[in-house]
Amino acid sequence: MVGVRLPKLPLGDLADRVSDQLANRLTGRDDVPAAGGGAAPRALPVRPAHEPQRVVLLGGTSDIGLALVRRLGRERPLDVVLAGRPGPRLSEAVAALVAEGHTARAVPLDARAPSTWSPALAEAFGSRGVAAGVPVGPVDVVVLAVGVLPDGKRSWQDPTAAADLVQVNTAAPVALAAEAAQRLRAQRGGALVVLSSAAAVRARSTDFAYGASKAGLDAFASGLREAVRGDGVRVVVVRPGFVRTRMTAGRSAWLATTKEAVADLTVQGLELERDVVWAPPGAQAVTEVLRWAPPRLLRRLRL
Ligand SMILES: NC(=O)c1ccc[n+]([C@@H]2O[C@H](COP(=O)([O-])OP(=O)(O)OC[C@H]3O[C@@H](n4cnc5c(N)ncnc54)[C@H](OP(=O)(O)O)[C@@H]3O)[C@@H](O)[C@H]2O)c1
Repeated sequence: MVGVRLPKLPLGDLADRVSDQLANRLTGRDDVPAAGGGAAPRALPVRPAHEPQRVVLLGGTSDIGLALVRRLGRERPLDVVLAGRPGPRLSEAVAALVAEGHTARAVPLDARAPSTWSPALAEAFGSRGVAAGVPVGPVDVVVLAVGVLPDGKRSWQDPTAAADLVQVNTAAPVALAAEAAQRLRAQRGGALVVLSSAAAVRARSTDFAYGASKAGLDAFASGLREAVRGDGVRVVVVRPGFVRTRMTAGRSAWLATTKEAVADLTVQGLELERDVVWAPPGAQAVTEVLRWAPPRLLRRLRL
């Protein structure tokens, strides 16, 4: 539908609010009829991404993803869907969120099983409207956190492992991002937060295959951001450096940060309407220095 923009009249706040509401009526922006039709209550509008109500986490057991969900739900209980590989880890993550006062449920999603991708999102989004007399709002934020960090050497010496890395870190997330964006467009708003990596811009020589897999996702998400911007949908690319999580257990790095710090910076980025969030912010400067440093020096430092 073509967006309707009414001219703002110089009559102050009230006139602006009236013209905004009229524009919303004409575009149907916040007036989605309830399933079943009839004189049902108005459906709820999309909420600001830093103050969401409904959140979907793709990669439902991710340490960073769950820290972000908790940070988003710090002030109010959330309605959360955790999409991931069924098993004790996923069930425990749902139970922990419920124990903390949120509403949470799991839906099955496996990056290696394309047949699960679309159904996972269909189930996670559900239908917007009214259920049992209670308005069900749209999904406000989708967090895409699926990813693996396999052994760096195996990832380039074993072609099957290389292909698997691209399947889990690039092909599945790209497809999930594409479908999530379509669903957000259909509801005319919402934010997609994509967990990329500083390695997408410049990978360490020991983990270049991982960096390559993230670079593909990062480029796709960055293009997608511009493609859907006009539809009221935001795509935010998060580029963490080294974060101490299950993924990096047994590894160490200079400038390591925490999942809580990544979550704080991401919510700050959502509030400030940033397109890209580096975590920690210094990771951007380090990445730029490494990008432009002489290759001979980097070889010597094994970076
Ligand atoms: N930790 C870091 O230093 C760091 C830095 C930059 C970017 N990142 C990115 O941030 C994201 C989250 O990482 P994290 O640190 O929170 O690691 P994590 O706790 O290991 O989370 C990774 C998530 O990916 C899921 N996953 C892996 N393989 C999957 C598959 N085949 N199908 C469905 N889900 C699958 C995991 O689910 P299971 O429980 O089923 O394995 C888990 O939910 C990743 O995309 C990662 O690349 C991490």
